[in-house]
Amino acid sequence: MVLGIETSCDETAAAVVRDGREVLSNVVYSQIALHQPYGGVVPEVASRSHVESLTGVIAEAVNQSGVGWEGIDQVAVTYGPGLATCLLVGLSAAKGLALRLGKPLCAVNHLDAHLFSAFLGKDAPRFAESCPLTALVVSGGHTCLLTVDAPGQLRLLGQTIDDAAGEAFDKGAKLLGLGYPGGPAIDKAAQGGNPRAVDFPRGMHRRDKTRVGGLDAEYCFSFSGLKTALLYHLQKHPVQPGTPAFADVVASYQEAIVDALVSRCERATEYGGRFVAAGGVALNSLLRARLVEMAARKNARLFLAPPRYCADNAAMIAGLAGLGLGITGPAAMEIDVNPNLEIGA
Ligand code: KG4
Ligand code: ZN
Repeated sequence: MVLGIETSCDETAAAVVRDGREVLSNVVYSQIALHQPYGGVVPEVASRSHVESLTGVIAEAVNQSGVGWEGIDQVAVTYGPGLATCLLVGLSAAKGLALRLGKPLCAVNHLDAHLFSAFLGKDAPRFAESCPLTALVVSGGHTCLLTVDAPGQLRLLGQTIDDAAGEAFDKGAKLLGLGYPGGPAIDKAAQGGNPRAVDFPRGMHRRDKTRVGGLDAEYCFSFSGLKTALLYHLQKHPVQPGTPAFADVVASYQEAIVDALVSRCERATEYGGRFVAAGGVALNSLLRARLVEMAARKNARLFLAPPRYCADNAAMIAGLAGLGLGITGPAAMEIDVNPNLEIGA
């Protein structure tokens, strides 16, 4: 029975998970309203809010689980990647709690947990039995394509060389005046628009096996040019929100992001017939639909993280720890936050 804690960005979350699968409680306090006036996450505002709400969120998760404090066998917490001052709040609380309860601590990699979230739930397919896999992890700060031979055995195929897919959504939404968080706003505003109205760039499209930081360029992403293209397009062709022309631009922008993601995913299915997608951007309705089509075309089995576990949550942290993955023992008590932790590290 693992109590998970997650404070890497702008969600304060705690959850109780049995045997790495069964989610007994999953409490998420979103700070969206706090950051909305600033148009994005303000790290110091986020960390102070974690300090204020974490104790209550943890108590609520333990309460809802019905197992009580005495039923908790282990405390798990995100130690990276994320905002340093935010990670610090969760890690300090988890260390204190583990000492107080006399239970072991497990330090978890946030990105590994996102990947695992597709296998969370009593009736979900089992992670180990679903491997080997090809995986897409897409969040606000990361865009990674990987192979997973077995739980804990990940190999990075490619990643973004500039903005993450979530950043492309968030920055694009800002340019469009859609506010924060941008992903859900673009998803909604694109409905009914013509995705072929504007031909936005799709980032790097190299088939010449060029390497980027040791990775194959065929599997890498670039989204900063797309954002600039949107800026220039809007300067040249101003559009009014709520009009069909506006929906066309939004739909075309979303199409470019999703197309860039899915084309690399499709190429990566060469690595095997099982594909998993997870992370906040995996909530995107067009991306989900395109991945389903891709899986059908490639005759691949697709594991899409359930929408309730795509965005940041602590159930994925507790679940991964429950499978025995993460750093445990005295090393966990000694560990510091790692804002730049890489997936699979
Ligand atoms: O995984 P996540 O909750 O937090 C990080 O670890 O970063 O991902 C947040 C990201 C944000 O960039 C947000 O705009 C994006 O996920 N997102 C979406 C959608 N819902 C959330 N992007 C596209 N379409 C959505 N429906
Ligand atoms: Zn995340």
